[in-house]
Amino acid sequence: MQPSSNAAARRRESRAEKVAGLLPPPNPWILQLHFTSYRELCPIQDLLPRHLPLVRLDANENGLGPSPLALEAIRRAADEAHRYPEIAGEGLRELIASEIGASPEQIVVGNGSTELLELLFHVYVRNRQEEVVVPRYSFPLYELLAQRFGCHLRLAPDRGFSVDLESLRRAITPRTRLVFLANPNNPTGTRVDNAALLDFAESLPPRVLLALDEAYADFLEHPPDLVASVRDGAPIVALRTFSKLHSLASLRIGYALAPREIACAIQKASLPTNTNGIAHQAATAALRDKPHQKQSKENVRVGRLRLERCFEELGLDWLPSSANFMMVRIPQAEEVWKALVRRGVLVRSLEGWGLPGWLRVTVGSPEELLLFFGGLHEAIREVLPRQRVLV
Ligand SMILES: Cc1ncc(COP(=O)(O)O)c(C=O)c1O
Repeated sequence: MQPSSNAAARRRESRAEKVAGLLPPPNPWILQLHFTSYRELCPIQDLLPRHLPLVRLDANENGLGPSPLALEAIRRAADEAHRYPEIAGEGLRELIASEIGASPEQIVVGNGSTELLELLFHVYVRNRQEEVVVPRYSFPLYELLAQRFGCHLRLAPDRGFSVDLESLRRAITPRTRLVFLANPNNPTGTRVDNAALLDFAESLPPRVLLALDEAYADFLEHPPDLVASVRDGAPIVALRTFSKLHSLASLRIGYALAPREIACAIQKASLPTNTNGIAHQAATAALRDKPHQKQSKENVRVGRLRLERCFEELGLDWLPSSANFMMVRIPQAEEVWKALVRRGVLVRSLEGWGLPGWLRVTVGSPEELLLFFGGLHEAIREVLPRQRVLV
């Protein structure tokens, strides 16, 4: 660097320091949060190839893409983008209720199910003495929210890689307000038995609510029938999303199904225009497009079989999955993961989720899976030249 540009850099730094000194300091507990951003969780920027298209199998998205009816609805709704959306997504709420056989008062729409998870904390977690219970291996957002709301998180050990309802029950204390359970679970892809799940919910101590995260339940062959239990007041809030089956992740739209009193409280905690009109129209069209839903499910079913075959051929351990992703154990997984990223193939390393040695792979489109298979073979040859690669 030239001497003059050095001096300019020093001047800029000292100006930045002065300005920073005048700005209001953030709350100290905010600065202490970890998991502040997706990038911090997945530091891949330096590894990404510059000129290769990316194969994105790291976020459990749906490679099929949105339904053509939803795309048409998005185009039409875009013409109305200058208008505020319907308050509380009234029309969508009614359609969801009629589709699943619930009443509209039991449904709340949210900016993705992520927002609804946050709203549950607003509604139920009042102070630092209160606790939430989560399975040992589960969606990291639950922990992130517990940190943000300053409440204590109790981890319930799993059995193998399956959620253990008994251990969740044992983790509950008089301070517990919420129990989080994703079914199927992320990142393991495992599910719990329907009858056991409903028994678990019915037998929760008073004042404890089951937050049943059903982001992937659309991929279950026999999902639990929650509507009757919820209508009868079972302490369950089911959280559902249009991001997975319906492939509308970018539009941020999901909903909660809950007993009326609870739904009413969640609705009160949400801001009136939390969801947008384009998402309402897209979700409405997606709900009506049954052939697209069928195709989505079929792609995931067939894609999982192809992934299983690939892992078997490579002699790798994997977990049977009920969702649109699979967990696979690979020797030197971090190195294999980096070798994949360098080839533009993104999957999720689970080291930061407490699962070193494991990767999570989304069941992408047939084309994406082909690129993944090619990348995985190359990455394994590079990192593990002695691994027996049979194909
Ligand atoms: C278990 C689970 N819940 C919720 C979400 C977030 O869904 P949404 O896009 O509706 O916010 C995800 C996203 O991957 C997830 O894995």
